[in-house]
Amino acid sequence: MDYIGTARIRELVARTGEKEFLQGLVTELEKDFLRWHEFDKSPRYACYSRVGVIELMPASDGEQFSFKYVNGHPGNTNKGLLTVAAFGVLADVASGYPVLLSELTVATALRTAATSVLAARVCARADSRCMALIGNGAQSEFQAIAFHALGGIRELRLFDTDPRATNKLEANLAALALPGLRVIRCANAAEAVRGADIVTTATADKRKAIILTPEMVVPGMHLNALGGDCPGKTELDVRILLRDDVRVIVEYEPQSRIEGEIQQVPQDFKVTELSDVLSRRVRARTTDTEVTVFDSVGFALEDFSALRYLHRLHRRYGASDGIDLIPTLQDPKDLHAVLRNPQTSRSAA
Ligand SMILES: NC(=O)c1ccc[n+]([C@@H]2O[C@H](COP(=O)([O-])OP(=O)(O)OC[C@H]3O[C@@H](n4cnc5c(N)ncnc54)[C@H](O)[C@@H]3O)[C@@H](O)[C@H]2O)c1
Repeated sequence: MDYIGTARIRELVARTGEKEFLQGLVTELEKDFLRWHEFDKSPRYACYSRVGVIELMPASDGEQFSFKYVNGHPGNTNKGLLTVAAFGVLADVASGYPVLLSELTVATALRTAATSVLAARVCARADSRCMALIGNGAQSEFQAIAFHALGGIRELRLFDTDPRATNKLEANLAALALPGLRVIRCANAAEAVRGADIVTTATADKRKAIILTPEMVVPGMHLNALGGDCPGKTELDVRILLRDDVRVIVEYEPQSRIEGEIQQVPQDFKVTELSDVLSRRVRARTTDTEVTVFDSVGFALEDFSALRYLHRLHRRYGASDGIDLIPTLQDPKDLHAVLRNPQTSRSAA
């Protein structure tokens, strides 16, 4: 069984190049969203507590199955821990055997940024150049890099309630020296969105926060709202969703009704699934003055795509020995051999 840990994902991204890696992931995601009907889909299982959530996210196309284990604990960073940490498994449906165990903490940030770009390509105005990035934590560099490399963004306007988070993002972006990118630090969210074509909200707070109010949202904007992803955890003033000029795009409607910004509106509120926009069945934006909202919560298909993509790269770049999570036996009915004979538990790549 193959294994991709933190060191290996760093190596895979470095060998591919971060821009090329993200572009490859956008392509993989698009292909999978375009075969939406082949997937067995369900809202994720969520175990809520006072301080956060632990979730399991399964998906299958009938040939392969995947799941992700992921948490969301907005108070974790005060204890030196990540808000979002994850790992996942890819398995072969024919045998039921897992084929890959992978880190998905970094991969989640990469696939979220790739999904954001994919959605923005069909929702945002084609001439979008300026993006506000509100919430400058773990996800923010990935969003910034993806939108600069693949989304045509040339100006980034940053804001976070924690100035240290913005210091970190600014320093990391300066070190990357992304060509032609102007980075502007703003004093508050209202200043950050001023002049922005795209507004990405990636804040973490375990409550109904109001990061954007209707006055901040001008005609033609695209909102990439990815921080609100649990019951009782939202980022947008509900009056934004209720505006006549607003079109809301979600990943998987049944899950988004529970977890997305649209938990704030009645069940019959009209939304469009991203797969329908990608397949051109529905247009997200019909004029340059409409406001599009990608109400992203993260869907299991995105992790399925990421796991398959990572697995291919891992194999292409010389996979090392796997891990011995599942015994390899001469006689599969003699499981007890594992305890008698150390040779049976060698790793099987
Ligand atoms: N939609 C998806 O697919 C997806 C994927 C990954 C993460 N997320 C969500 O995105 C959010 C951000 O994740 P992260 O890993 O970057 O978390 P993080 O804790 O590293 O960063 C969040 C940042 O938001 C800031 N913040 C909190 N309240 C704010 C406010 N009112 N205004 C401005 N900034 C504020 C915090 O100071 C922090 O720096 C989380 O809520 C997470 O659950 C969604």
